[in-house]
Amino acid sequence: MADESHQQTTQKDYVLSQAILLTSVAALGGFLFGFDTAVINGAVNAMREDFEMGSALTGFVVSSALLGCVAGAYLAGQLAERVGRIKVMLLASVLFTISAIGSGLAFGAWDMIVWRVVGGLGVGAASVIAPAYIAEVSPASIRGRLGSLQQMAIVLGIFVALLSDYFIAGVAGGSGESLWGSTAWRWMFWAEVIPAVAYGVLALTIPESPRYLVARGKVDEAKNVLGRVMLRGIPERISEIQRTVRRDARASLRDLRNSAGKVLPIVWIGIALSVFQQFVGINVIFYYSSTLWQAVGFTEDDALTQTVLTSVTNIVVTVVAIALIDKIGRRVLLLIGSAGMFLSLGTMAWAFASAPVVDGAPELSDSMALVALVAANAFVVFFGMSWGPGVWVLLGEMFNNAIRATALGVAAAAQWLANFAISTSFPVMADVGLGFAYGFYTLFALLSFFFVLKWVPETKGRELEDMD
Ligand code: GLC
Repeated sequence: MADESHQQTTQKDYVLSQAILLTSVAALGGFLFGFDTAVINGAVNAMREDFEMGSALTGFVVSSALLGCVAGAYLAGQLAERVGRIKVMLLASVLFTISAIGSGLAFGAWDMIVWRVVGGLGVGAASVIAPAYIAEVSPASIRGRLGSLQQMAIVLGIFVALLSDYFIAGVAGGSGESLWGSTAWRWMFWAEVIPAVAYGVLALTIPESPRYLVARGKVDEAKNVLGRVMLRGIPERISEIQRTVRRDARASLRDLRNSAGKVLPIVWIGIALSVFQQFVGINVIFYYSSTLWQAVGFTEDDALTQTVLTSVTNIVVTVVAIALIDKIGRRVLLLIGSAGMFLSLGTMAWAFASAPVVDGAPELSDSMALVALVAANAFVVFFGMSWGPGVWVLLGEMFNNAIRATALGVAAAAQWLANFAISTSFPVMADVGLGFAYGFYTLFALLSFFFVLKWVPETKGRELEDMD
């Protein structure tokens, strides 16, 4: 009863439609993040033939984008402090558009790498600005759910890119076939122009973040923005923001250190959350899906179907996170996720390690293949309902107003570096053995549990002004 009446009061505190509207536009950045990282999947084989690339060069063309992401994330946080959140969204939209057009026009591996890095800069920037903006416009009681829409957008972006690649290849009769005067794989990149431009145009229709406005002394504007999403308590919120932002001083990297010159513990926690989120190996499932599913015994076509299914699973379980994150809190959600990932990854490691190796690849018996398949999907379920959205939500909200964008930029850059490390090391680790690779990820799932238990603060329902 008490809980119910509490819920009723908080529900009247905000305008849900407005909060969802602002969040969705910002989350379009997440959609492009997902789309841009996944679009190359369908293009890579035909592109490789056209450009006559070897394995190492092909691998670098694919992973070079991640280096752009590192730089984009790192710079975007500091830039958002200077020019505001909206201008960074506009910049990201321009980068996505240039990269999409350029990648489609590329005449060789080396200029392709340039276009992929440009797109990566956009992805990195979007990965910082969406969680920051969403946290800054959201009412505290539903901030976790709104923040999880970013992850929803990322996984939808991955899914739509797979679908669009599939569709384009289907119309052309293969990704290396000609379609309307150009090879099909080029159209796969050009398709990204549509969401990229839409993101920029829509970003022009949403207001600047109230936390940024107050820092620039634009208090009346900030009141108006809060007035769109909050029904009461606006003057109090404004004075709290005023108390906690650094008026006119733009946070720089120096502000991430304390007076003794040591990096603030909260920044380390953000970096560690990022690293754990990647070191459980989620993107190995997405980037190297064919290796995984073919090891489980699928043909190439079935492997593609399984990849699509995995991404649908990821979309569906994000709904679970949205339902739970503001109720049970971030910590419990992450702990459940870590435990589930530990069990599912451990099962995969065991299945692969115990299979006999034939011609350098594990040969799983039918029953073991089924075990590995179920475990791999269970892993996606546990990740998608916890660490996937949870880390982005936490990174958006755990830093105080004075350092948010800058600190988030550093933590997100660490995440892209960790992503790069895991995705480039996977082929080498898989050569040692898939059991070894999954054993490594299992270890990090276990460590992540104890890390959350000891270090991660609960931010559920707390105002951004109380994050100290
Ligand atoms: C999270 C991760 C991202 C991953 C995605 C998959 O957003 O940050 O690297 O691709 O989840 O669900």
